[in-house]
Amino acid sequence: MENLLSKTKQQKFHLLKLTKKQQLTKNTFSMEFDVPENLLPNFRFEAGQYVTLQYPSKGEVFQNDFSITAAPYEKKLTLGIKINSPKSSTYDLFHDFQRGDSVEVSEPKGRFVLRSKPHEFRTIVGFAGGIGITPLLSHFKNILHNEPRTRLFLFYGNKTVADVPFKQEIDALVSLHQDRFAVHYFYSREKVGNAFLEGRLDEHKLNLIINQLMTIDETDEEATLWDAVDEVLICGKGEMIKALANACYHNGIPKKNIHFELFEEFNDDIYPQEKEFPLVENIEVDFKIFNKKYTTSLKDNKVRLLQQLLIQKFPVPYSCKSGICGSCECVLEEGEVELLENEYLTEKEEQSGKILACMSVVLSKKIKVNFDLD
Ligand code: FES
Repeated sequence: MENLLSKTKQQKFHLLKLTKKQQLTKNTFSMEFDVPENLLPNFRFEAGQYVTLQYPSKGEVFQNDFSITAAPYEKKLTLGIKINSPKSSTYDLFHDFQRGDSVEVSEPKGRFVLRSKPHEFRTIVGFAGGIGITPLLSHFKNILHNEPRTRLFLFYGNKTVADVPFKQEIDALVSLHQDRFAVHYFYSREKVGNAFLEGRLDEHKLNLIINQLMTIDETDEEATLWDAVDEVLICGKGEMIKALANACYHNGIPKKNIHFELFEEFNDDIYPQEKEFPLVENIEVDFKIFNKKYTTSLKDNKVRLLQQLLIQKFPVPYSCKSGICGSCECVLEEGEVELLENEYLTEKEEQSGKILACMSVVLSKKIKVNFDLD
């Protein structure tokens, strides 16, 4: 997703040297940066995290988030990037920056992370679409390295065989860990002589996967492989995440074990809103952002807080609008809201008054929020 500066929160950047740039497929490439000794503590990361690159493109300054493809044990900073149309800033990022150039890189962040459990026997399933493989690649390498007994299944969708980024690296991992890592590639625009592997990763495909692939569990004959799934990781476009997250949920995986990372702006809710709320009208809203105070009023609470402020064209920060990325995180200083889905805030943060504006339904006549967290 392309972010102009005004949509995002201010963050700290460091100038890092590009040491490697490699085209992976027609529309994707990877970048590797040198992290100098004095910045190593700033660039420590967990599998599944991302950095923001800040760079000039077409006369403007862009900030874009890119997932780290390396696992922490590899001790390097590598990113996988999709080259969008010539009008996009990622097109310029690919064409304008060469080995030896410096790029402004933010410190790693993001909560698409999993707690490592080296002593457990876990079953983890990943679904990725296109460049959405990037955080999963980091996760899978990390798990294979740190959890000797965990088994992994990856279902990876792309348009054609030639469009699969990181295929060599994934296949090399499978060869190394054949006993506990299986990958299945799916193609939406190429016939590969096997109908099962053709088409998009969606609810229908998930049902086929469950019934045809994840059947007998050799370690527990009472159960199927799907019954044994502990965690699901999904990364790609909004529609794919929505379809698969709901399908996994309906097939018995608790929402707290379904983790996803969106790779585009997505305005739909991932899970349908299950609750109705009492109507509150003529709501007064005071909020602070970038040290500036604003006051406005909302007609009612039928639309969530962030979306109402955006309609009124206030410069509030956002990205996913789905309770996942944390861009709209703020502190509720007065009033009451109900937080719908929340994939981002910890329980402790919620207790301290933090909310996600994109997932907040206002329940009082007046609220006061502060987007300036630092
Ligand atoms: S915009 Fe992503 S959590 Fe609110």
